[in-house]
Amino acid sequence: MKDASPATAPETIYLKDYTPFGYDIESVHLTFHLAPEATRVLSKIRFAPKADATDATFFLHGEELKLISAKIDGQEVSPTLVEGGLKCDVPSAPFTWEAEVEINPAGNTALEGLYMSNGMYCTQCEAEGFRKITYYPDRPDVMSTFTVRIEGDASVMLSNGNPMGKGEGWAEWHDPWPKPAYLFALVAGDLVNHPGQFTTKSGKEVELNIWVRPGDEDKCAFGMEALKKSMKWDEDVYGLEYDLELFNIVAVDDFNMGAMENKGLNIFNSSCVLASPETSTDANFERIEAIIAHEYFHNWTGNRITCRDWFQLCLKEGLTVFRDAQFTADMRSEPVKRIEDVIALRARQFPEDNGPLAHPPRPEQFQEINNFYTATVYEKGAEVIGMLKRLVGDDNYYKALKLYFERHDGQACTIEDWLKVFEDATGRDLSQFKLWYSEAGTPRLKVSEDYADGTYTLTFEQSTPPTPGQPQKAPRVIPVAVGLLSPNGDEVRGTEVLELTEARQSFTFEGLAAKPVPSILREFSAPVILERETTNAERAFLLAHDTDPFNRWEAGNALAKEVRVAMVVDGATPDAAYLDALEKLVRDDDQDPAFRALVLSPPSQADIAQTLAERGHTPDPQKIYDAAETFAQTLAQQLETSLPRLYAATTVDGPYRPDAESAGKRALNGRILSLLTRLDGGEQAARQYATADNMTQQYTALSCLMKAEKADAQSQAFFDQWQHDRLVMDKWFALQIACASPENAAATAAALTRHPLFDMKNPNRFRAVFGALAGNHAGFHHASGDGYVLLADNLIALDKLNPQTTARMCAAFQTWKRYDTARQERIREQLLRIAGTDGLSRDTNEMVSRILDA
Ligand code: BES
Ligand code: ZN
Repeated sequence: MKDASPATAPETIYLKDYTPFGYDIESVHLTFHLAPEATRVLSKIRFAPKADATDATFFLHGEELKLISAKIDGQEVSPTLVEGGLKCDVPSAPFTWEAEVEINPAGNTALEGLYMSNGMYCTQCEAEGFRKITYYPDRPDVMSTFTVRIEGDASVMLSNGNPMGKGEGWAEWHDPWPKPAYLFALVAGDLVNHPGQFTTKSGKEVELNIWVRPGDEDKCAFGMEALKKSMKWDEDVYGLEYDLELFNIVAVDDFNMGAMENKGLNIFNSSCVLASPETSTDANFERIEAIIAHEYFHNWTGNRITCRDWFQLCLKEGLTVFRDAQFTADMRSEPVKRIEDVIALRARQFPEDNGPLAHPPRPEQFQEINNFYTATVYEKGAEVIGMLKRLVGDDNYYKALKLYFERHDGQACTIEDWLKVFEDATGRDLSQFKLWYSEAGTPRLKVSEDYADGTYTLTFEQSTPPTPGQPQKAPRVIPVAVGLLSPNGDEVRGTEVLELTEARQSFTFEGLAAKPVPSILREFSAPVILERETTNAERAFLLAHDTDPFNRWEAGNALAKEVRVAMVVDGATPDAAYLDALEKLVRDDDQDPAFRALVLSPPSQADIAQTLAERGHTPDPQKIYDAAETFAQTLAQQLETSLPRLYAATTVDGPYRPDAESAGKRALNGRILSLLTRLDGGEQAARQYATADNMTQQYTALSCLMKAEKADAQSQAFFDQWQHDRLVMDKWFALQIACASPENAAATAAALTRHPLFDMKNPNRFRAVFGALAGNHAGFHHASGDGYVLLADNLIALDKLNPQTTARMCAAFQTWKRYDTARQERIREQLLRIAGTDGLSRDTNEMVSRILDA
């Protein structure tokens, strides 16, 4: 089921139009009579008109509901059904609203509201899904306690809060914490639990459960440990304790997102919670640990303090991403996590911020809020908090957070509330800093230097290119962490945070015996693009000597990009000095294997395309692909004699453990295997495939073989071994497309959509195929245009079933203006074809029109 097509121009919602709801809610009672195609929902809601209401209209949201009856204080009433809900005349004193509606969970393929997944009932209400369950003021600033009765034949029936009782065919729940409807959840099915227990710092016993389908019990232990670590970490670092006696997690196979923080009943995409050494890679383990932490941390940053309206989304998401990143840094490696996050930011947020979909972390308008769960709201939202922490210092940061929790507990807040807390806690004026929340676009930071008589001067010039609706940009506050190295590689000035506030600003360093080598933007202290004239020799120097691990990686990354750009633009051969530096690093056992693996990982081809575009070139995806291949082949040859020894030396033996240290070693070993495969025709990879006892090594070997087009036997064996496991099959679908050559990628994806196990309705499977296609840069952008047509065909088909996932995947086209006119024309044709589809959802319509407006 999907929303009716916008016959007229779809409505735009503006932040400036915010008005509070005219009524308070004292309590909500819900009764569910579950039936797959005709679930009855009875609501009993106690409303009280607000004395100071500016708008007394009684409007309740409701979509795809069949209204059976409505009563006010026990008397039947006849509400007026309007677009998106109902209106009703109501008393001017407190009253009880009762309604009965019928909904169809089995027919709900949008996976929003109450739906079914493998025979199990579950809900997804954020952002505006509760209105598909019953009539309600479905907005985050309306909060209430909920009491829920579930009637049905499932063996397990769960909702938020604490269990109040259960019997044959029924269960009752009560959540004592007032919450907005988007945090409501219900789950019913024949599930089994992996139990756990946690004692909070004040001695409260909390029962923990991970609920899964029978057969998945053996994949819960890692998630349970991650949950306990998260609970402990939030107490230790932020002083925040859990506030119910029960915390449930449920794994669901059909889910649009990764996971959801419903109060006391988190619901997870099974791919983000189920883990075992045999079926999950190291990357899966890391992500599962992070996402369990993320959803758990929302209990305070999101649930106890929520958002006033959806424009404030980054208030909870940016902060919670920032917190989960701190957690991962503490559990694993701080520099490695930072490098991974910056790679992801550049891969996902920079293209958004520098293209037609650019919007500020706090947008001021939207048509469909689901389209604003973006890299900008999440990742840039987290970066903004990182800058704030850097500017005020750690002590002030925690002081401000303490004040935030004291002052705003139980409230629905805004970015203004958040910044005010920092101003009050530190005495700082944050009005200029606020631009980070209200303006889109990635600032460019040009740096020049000067040295005379022992004084070294760094001059910064900042400018932000125009973005849709924001042609003019004012200078921002930019914290730039800088250190200085002497020419012999010693650090002569430790890290210092320079605070830029003007369009052009200079900083001097006195008393330097020689012209230093600057290490700028250490730890990636601000989400900007640094532009600086420098040499490959200086980059190689920093790669060898910088004391800041992030900038050491960054120097290597910049070198890697320069070398590839030179290969693409000037037809240069791979730079010998860089190859030597890599060789030295790969052999240097004093360095962290995870770090070495990162330096050895080539920049993505999309990243090279972006870099070329920034410098005024039109990227040719095939040439970028060829350069990547040539470079890897040359590096493999350079290392030829030592690769077998390096492979053996980095192989991790013994039982699989998912910790960061072992994972880092396996990552390095995997990089070496991929180089080795270029020389030995896949011999070693085939051996690794045959002997692997964990998914990381099995998957790495398979991907090396697939890239070498030597995987026929192993691909079939993998399928035979894992065809019963949906999550592993997602890997099998994705890997074949990710590893396909540019000319085969679209055809491989097309063939896989005809495979019996391809399932449009399962977002994980759809993303496995089309996420991999869009991620195969040269394949998706192959000159034939086949990739574009295939994606458009499938987006059009999916839109009828699942608008939310369709709309998100339209972002594959957001970079279209970077490419040559022939490709642009081909993409435009597909965008227009999608836009012209009859009955297109509001979600997809908004995305496609914004992309086309570029
Ligand atoms: N609140 C979101 C889940 C959500 C997003 C629900 C959009 C409805 C619409 C949840 O807290 C979240 O942010 N999940 C992320 C993962 C997280 C680790 C960044 C996700 O699902 O990708
Ligand atoms: Zn979140």
